[in-house]
Amino acid sequence: MSDSIILGIESSCDDTSAAIIKGNSILSNIAASQAIHKEYGGVVPELASRAHQQNIIPVVEKSFTKANIQQNAISAIGFTRGPGLLGSLLVGTSFAKSLAMSLNVPLIEVNHLQAHILAHFIEDANPMPPAFPFLCLTVSGGHTMIVLVKDYFEMEIIGKTIDDAAGEAFDKIGKIFDLDYPAGPIIDRLAKEGDPHAFTFNKPKLEEYNYSFSGIKTSVLYFIQKEVRKNPDFIKENLNDLCASVQRSIIEILMNKLEKAAKDLNIKEVAIAGGVSANSALRKAMEDNKDRLGWNIYIPKFEYTTDNAAMIAMVAKLKFDKGEFTDLRTSATAKYDL
Ligand code: KG4
Ligand code: ZN
Repeated sequence: MSDSIILGIESSCDDTSAAIIKGNSILSNIAASQAIHKEYGGVVPELASRAHQQNIIPVVEKSFTKANIQQNAISAIGFTRGPGLLGSLLVGTSFAKSLAMSLNVPLIEVNHLQAHILAHFIEDANPMPPAFPFLCLTVSGGHTMIVLVKDYFEMEIIGKTIDDAAGEAFDKIGKIFDLDYPAGPIIDRLAKEGDPHAFTFNKPKLEEYNYSFSGIKTSVLYFIQKEVRKNPDFIKENLNDLCASVQRSIIEILMNKLEKAAKDLNIKEVAIAGGVSANSALRKAMEDNKDRLGWNIYIPKFEYTTDNAAMIAMVAKLKFDKGEFTDLRTSATAKYDL
């Protein structure tokens, strides 16, 4: 294991982030999130790229200051090449290329989804890293998939959503309730004071380990429209119960398939990753399965769940050890398979 010092840069969506990793240990993990999207109820790609351009230099400078590392002490630069919003990715990619050229250090491309999963190998992400093979439920605003992780860079998607991602379902249902974007963390907070069994929504019936979340969104929308016609204050009067019930439904959908996959494949090493892995009900469901099904569970520290550059730096470190570098002629890619 090398004691390399690597700068990681993440700009795939609406968070501009930079982190410094030494060995497997994070020295700094700085992020600037973009409040501007709240006004529009979702990420506006053009505004996101512009904000990345404004934030990237201060964020990177801060990551060096916080880590107490000089720029010329780094061994390499890792950056998110994709998947994500192309205009956003271009900012991080161009910046990483220029800095790598000026510091004369190798450039390392990172797949954002691999990074969510491999965040589990950051020294302080878990008390212990998962053992291969493990299953990782990767749930974010853009992706929902069950991944069989056979080795660091040998991953197989065994099930995924056929429409909306779980985070997207939280955000879109939150919009129906007139909550700010992103609604996931707000629903999580409001659900704490609500009854998860107050309301029941339709659940999808899909083959194998695939997911669907557009049905529950429509089911909530029709239910709310019907109730609001009878009582215009219905949402306000039932907000906590609505949030708790929606959260229960989404987490049940996620966990049922994960449980089925773990049973069928006879795997007891089970991890969660991505923005929705910050959800308290999902974390609780994992804890319950640890006792009930004898799983060894891996739940990353909060700061490594939603988009962050620490996970990018972690993957860059693993690739640095293998000598896997990227040509400076590389360009960002909106689609990027695992
Ligand atoms: O991984 P991430 O930061 O960005 C993507 O790569 O998409 O995930 C963001 C998503 C958003 O949809 C947000 O609402 C959701 O993660 N999220 C949550 C929670 N925290 C973030 N969803 C439910 N409960 C939370 N506590
Ligand atoms: Zn993400």
